[in-house]
Amino acid sequence: MTEILLKNKVAASGNILVITTKFENEFGLPEKVNDYIKAELKKEGKTTLTYNYIGKYISIFIVDPKKEHSALFEQIRKHGSSVADGVNAHKGTELHIYNQTKHPRYSLAAAEGVALANYQFLKYRPKAKANTLKSIIITNSDLEAGKVTELNTICKATFMARDLVNEPVNSLNATGLANAFKQMGKEAGFKVEVFNKKKIVELKMGGLLSVNAGSVDEPTFTIMEYKPAKAKNKKPFVLVGKGVVYDTGGLSLKPTLNSMDMMKCDMAGAAAVGAALYAIAKSKLNVHVIGLVPATDNRPGFNAFAPGDIITMMDGSTVEMLNSDAEGRMILADALHYAKRYKPELTIDLATLTGSAMAAIGTSGIVGMGNASEKQKAKLHESSFNVFERIAELPFWDDYNDLLKSDIADQKNIGGPYGGSITAGKFLEKFTDYPYYHLDIAGPAFITARDNYRPKGGTGVGVRLLFDFFKNQ
Ligand code: BES
Ligand code: MN
Ligand code: ZN
Repeated sequence: MTEILLKNKVAASGNILVITTKFENEFGLPEKVNDYIKAELKKEGKTTLTYNYIGKYISIFIVDPKKEHSALFEQIRKHGSSVADGVNAHKGTELHIYNQTKHPRYSLAAAEGVALANYQFLKYRPKAKANTLKSIIITNSDLEAGKVTELNTICKATFMARDLVNEPVNSLNATGLANAFKQMGKEAGFKVEVFNKKKIVELKMGGLLSVNAGSVDEPTFTIMEYKPAKAKNKKPFVLVGKGVVYDTGGLSLKPTLNSMDMMKCDMAGAAAVGAALYAIAKSKLNVHVIGLVPATDNRPGFNAFAPGDIITMMDGSTVEMLNSDAEGRMILADALHYAKRYKPELTIDLATLTGSAMAAIGTSGIVGMGNASEKQKAKLHESSFNVFERIAELPFWDDYNDLLKSDIADQKNIGGPYGGSITAGKFLEKFTDYPYYHLDIAGPAFITARDNYRPKGGTGVGVRLLFDFFKNQ
């Protein structure tokens, strides 16, 4: 992993990223080079310049302080991403970030962009070329060391989530996912308890068991808890993550082309919850947070639940299951019901829940909805722009409940042809009795082409968002 270091008294040398409002040559560049750079930067609309000077890579980023805050920070992260490529192309091992502005946070944003872009998933091709860049050194910013440690933790947690998502189902089943959480808990210092199938049967988690019926692997239900001595919140926050380790659609089988190929990503919500707890615990944030992950694969095996089945859920309500590909809500419902025992301040679930969310806003953001207080919603919204995992909120009107009505059970597991991500959210709401917010990450969880510092494959979406949200509580 790339490490970010803070070395305040080191002169920037070698590969350098300069963040500035007006470039000053503090790097001993010859007059000719300096003149060239200044002339280039004078050109209309020019905000970045990359220069190769005796084998060293120098990149200059001009900050426009008039730019809207979140957009500026994102622009810096993205620039960091291109700098990571530049340094790797030069086979550089180090990058110095030199900040000529009065805002040390720009250095953090740049380092974050570089580090997140430098991620690789090389487990299954150990002979492939690893990136050469290993250290990002922030040289002159007036930053507390703690901020840099925190950023390293956030990046590491994001990579953990990406790794879990990139891991295919033939090496990561529900038990494997639960074991990964145990490992994270041990490393960061939070409690992890895993229920096996026997316990899940005892608890009558009918939703989770119904999805698991077509599988040869056992389901798991993981409870993670981070409870610091001086927690600011009396009632805990609960996070619920969809842990479908693979979604074939079940008997309502997905057509293979372009729809099943990426379905190892269907536990991205679970990965984000585990990794966020890792970052929160490792950074010792003063919040009491509980993470719940129901996990199974969704397969059309011999005893697979069949469209038309009526399932009795953990809360005792019944669901007419008309499409086995709407499996996420079946397992999440039991977890949301389970969450009631904590009397949560707020419960947030993260789930790759509907193609409809992706159809609505693509991969650029998260679809959000819920009945949380306006205050909590505003905080979530703000965090989502801080980290640029933006939430686009959809309505959560009660009319949508009508679409879930069944003649034979309390509700159906599918709505009509339209508003699919909202009906999914309304389905879930019925299993809650506390303030609730639903994040549908189907779009941004997994991307099929690199997008700046978001690599192809698992993106780790949700980790940075949750961390920022809890840091600001
Ligand atoms: N896991 C999928 C949703 C998904 C789609 C995630 C694309 C990531 C990318 C989910 O279980 C699903 O299949 N949803 C169905 C629901 C429908 C049957 C009501 C969908 O969106 O088509
Ligand atoms: Mn599905
Ligand atoms: Zn799914």
